[in-house]
Amino acid sequence: VSNNRRVILAERPRYIVPTANCFRIENGPVPELTAGNLLVRTTWLSMDASLYARVQRVSNQAEPIKLKEVMVGPAVGFVEQSQHPDFKAGDLVSGFWGWQDYAISNGTRLRKLDFGVQKPSYALSAYGASAFGAYIALTTLAPPVAGETVVVGTALGGLGHIAGQIAKLKGCRVVGIAGSAEKCQLAVEKLGFDACVNHSDEDFAKNLMQACPKGVDVFVDTTGGKALDAVIPLLNLNSRIAACGLMATPHFGEAAFKGKYQSTMSFMYELINRRISVRGLVVFDHLRSSLAQFHTEMKAWIDSGKVKPMEDIVNGLQNAPSAFQDVFESRNRGKRLVKVAD
Ligand SMILES: NC(=O)c1ccc[n+]([C@@H]2O[C@H](COP(=O)([O-])OP(=O)(O)OC[C@H]3O[C@@H](n4cnc5c(N)ncnc54)[C@H](OP(=O)(O)O)[C@@H]3O)[C@@H](O)[C@H]2O)c1
Repeated sequence: VSNNRRVILAERPRYIVPTANCFRIENGPVPELTAGNLLVRTTWLSMDASLYARVQRVSNQAEPIKLKEVMVGPAVGFVEQSQHPDFKAGDLVSGFWGWQDYAISNGTRLRKLDFGVQKPSYALSAYGASAFGAYIALTTLAPPVAGETVVVGTALGGLGHIAGQIAKLKGCRVVGIAGSAEKCQLAVEKLGFDACVNHSDEDFAKNLMQACPKGVDVFVDTTGGKALDAVIPLLNLNSRIAACGLMATPHFGEAAFKGKYQSTMSFMYELINRRISVRGLVVFDHLRSSLAQFHTEMKAWIDSGKVKPMEDIVNGLQNAPSAFQDVFESRNRGKRLVKVAD
């Protein structure tokens, strides 16, 4: 192949969700290997909602993506050529080189996937940032005890579907929240959740209460908004919240957000009254301390059938922009990935 397709950020989103037309595909030559570097060929991309903040320039974790530059994001690929001492042709690697067929890397932020990953795509689903986030939420930030009730937001999302399964194998009652009856059915039938409540139902809050007869001990919050509002009244004494994401308000940081959610005072009152603890998740903080342990545990859980990663695959780099938009419009069922090449 002599062509390198690159998905460029052509314009910033004009609406709350980043739409596919913010991106443009450019064709160019495959970059030439330079001394000390390696050339990687992309096989898989991960469609992570958090990239939105970098597209929209509201991230306080990472640099915004510049206009006319390639869209960055987690990727998996094979080393095609190498002049780097730590990598050789054929190595399976993951990194952040983004939405393009080929990239040159100096090895920084590149990880060799040499711990026995069952299949390359799992590097982004079962072992990716979302799954790692689920693991940290339930082992470090808000660990549940067997018998407790754990509520998990985005039950069919990349983080949510793994969190529910981890809570289940820890002996908890697991109640998911998802945006349709069909997603709720999948959570129960395919992922083993005890119950799952549809947040688009009019009776959502009442249904959630009925699904949690002993209240809620741990909430893995990926959305804020309506789900959080419904969970707060159900939180037990000494309950814990792992604050992982804000899908209900992806436009956080903007003026609209500041006007909309001003219920923080009553929330703080409830935190004190019910001795609730809330811990925020930034997965990157935990790489050094917990990534190796996570790989070992997740590998064993998958091999023994205790965790079943659910992947939602879209084919073709050219479809990455719409595959990304889908995540904000609730069309994914499991971790949304784009397959770029075999
Ligand atoms: N802090 C960290 O380090 C870290 C790490 C990984 C992930 N995260 C965060 O976790 C969140 C994603 O969770 P995930 O991976 O489980 O999901 P995901 O795979 O990113 O899927 C997104 C889901 O969000 C839901 N959604 C979309 N718009 C919504 C809205 N307006 N209100 C409520 N829900 C909406 C939809 O599910 P429904 O149809 O079920 O509503 C959609 O399928 C993101 O905010 C991401 O940034 C954070």
